Amino acid sequence: MSELPRVDETGTDAATRRREAVAAFAHDLVVAIVDAEIHAPNDHALEAHLVATARALREALSATAGATLVLACHGGRILWDGVDLVSASLQGSRLLRIAAERGIASFTFDVQVDGRVLGRLIELLRDPRAKEAFRPQAIDMVLRARGIRGVGLAFGQTGAIAAPAITPQTALRAPAVPALGQAMAGYQAMTAALQDSHVRATRGREIELDATRGVVERAVATMSTAPSDLLALAVYDDIDRFTVGHSVRVALLALQVARAAHASEEQLLLVGTAGMLHDIGKSHVPQEVLFKQGRLDDDEWRVMAEHPRLGAELLLEQKDVHKAAIGAAYCHHMAPNGLGYPRPAIPFDPSGISKLVRVCDVFEALTAVRPYKRDLTPLEALAVMHREAKGFDPHWFRFFVQTIGVYPIGTRVRLSNGDRALVVRQGIAIDRPVVRLIGSQSVDDLPAADARELTIGDRVDDLVLTIDAVVRRRSGAQAVDASDRIAAVMQHACLGKPTPRGS
Ligand SMILES: [Fe+2]
Repeated sequence: MSELPRVDETGTDAATRRREAVAAFAHDLVVAIVDAEIHAPNDHALEAHLVATARALREALSATAGATLVLACHGGRILWDGVDLVSASLQGSRLLRIAAERGIASFTFDVQVDGRVLGRLIELLRDPRAKEAFRPQAIDMVLRARGIRGVGLAFGQTGAIAAPAITPQTALRAPAVPALGQAMAGYQAMTAALQDSHVRATRGREIELDATRGVVERAVATMSTAPSDLLALAVYDDIDRFTVGHSVRVALLALQVARAAHASEEQLLLVGTAGMLHDIGKSHVPQEVLFKQGRLDDDEWRVMAEHPRLGAELLLEQKDVHKAAIGAAYCHHMAPNGLGYPRPAIPFDPSGISKLVRVCDVFEALTAVRPYKRDLTPLEALAVMHREAKGFDPHWFRFFVQTIGVYPIGTRVRLSNGDRALVVRQGIAIDRPVVRLIGSQSVDDLPAADARELTIGDRVDDLVLTIDAVVRRRSGAQAVDASDRIAAVMQHACLGKPTPRGS
């Protein structure tokens, strides 16, 4: 293996920081395309998001020290310099679809690009009457005429586009990308269906529940053949303005736990749909509250706390929606001790699916980055939930911990010998997962599918490897958990004694 890259005190190397800066811009851009479907072109929230996206572009240009930045659309992925920008690809099905329809192989951006230019570019891309503009002979004139300065478009058929270059940085990762192709397409379909639901709900249109059911069916099928693939991708999904990534992750966690509970196919479909749609009421929360950067004040909080009721009402208006999804939308912030919200006049006991979605929702929120908080490691999140255990159904909380373990599938870890690894399966105890070695790769890298796997705690080559640190989901920084102590507490609280499970 080549020499390890130089890392700073957060454990992040320079190549990773460059890639993260570019990935942040690409992610903002794909979310802006969804935003533009919801809002009018001069809407304040959309303008603010476009300005933030242009700022992310400047930061990416500065981090890469280049005059221009090129994003390529190739094989259903968004790429920069041969690197798959996984988080942008997961949320980017709209941009990828537009690029495929218009024959766009790549976008080039320079420092002249501001929020207004990005707004005009998105308008042009979405304009159904502008198809003729997307020809090599016409595009520069059209871009000039529309005031889109600092942007270039290159065209090519998918087959004619040069494959991403394999560099020493990407060589280890490259074989894994096709292997995850099916899961990637399935995950993209989930985010696209949820983005559609939010767009339609915000505009007061009927939600296409068949599309949601279809993508959940596909996720259930993928999880039965390759359970770790979708869950590993979930780790790369970034924060977005519509809580789409959050809802997809909640659905995948709930599916993982329901599968372990031997739920039937039909029950899995209900669990996945309920997880996907649990926060749909947020599409009716005013945008200045929903998209506020920072903590909400008391009045804003009361408005936000309406989203379970709004979601249940919205789903009740739809045709053929199962009561499990309505229940999860209404009950996912209710605690069994009578706390939480909403507080119905006549108390009732939420369904098992609602209780499971609640556990997954809180865990996901704790482990996610928000503008006002860092991401907790899974173990830290479980410890917080254990302290507040009265807020959850005890059966589902215990079963959740038993199923996902203290190192859930998709968690990146540092081993006691310094190697990095990705958790791919649960092992014989909640703190002894099966990991795949990913060498020195960092936050936005996917591991090669044929990389070596081992079980934590097993003797391998005369060494018993343990987990030294967890790599935080967003920043890539390494967090040293007080693993032994907290894991022991979780073990005692949730399991009584280690429960052998098949892997
Ligand atoms: Fe919620």
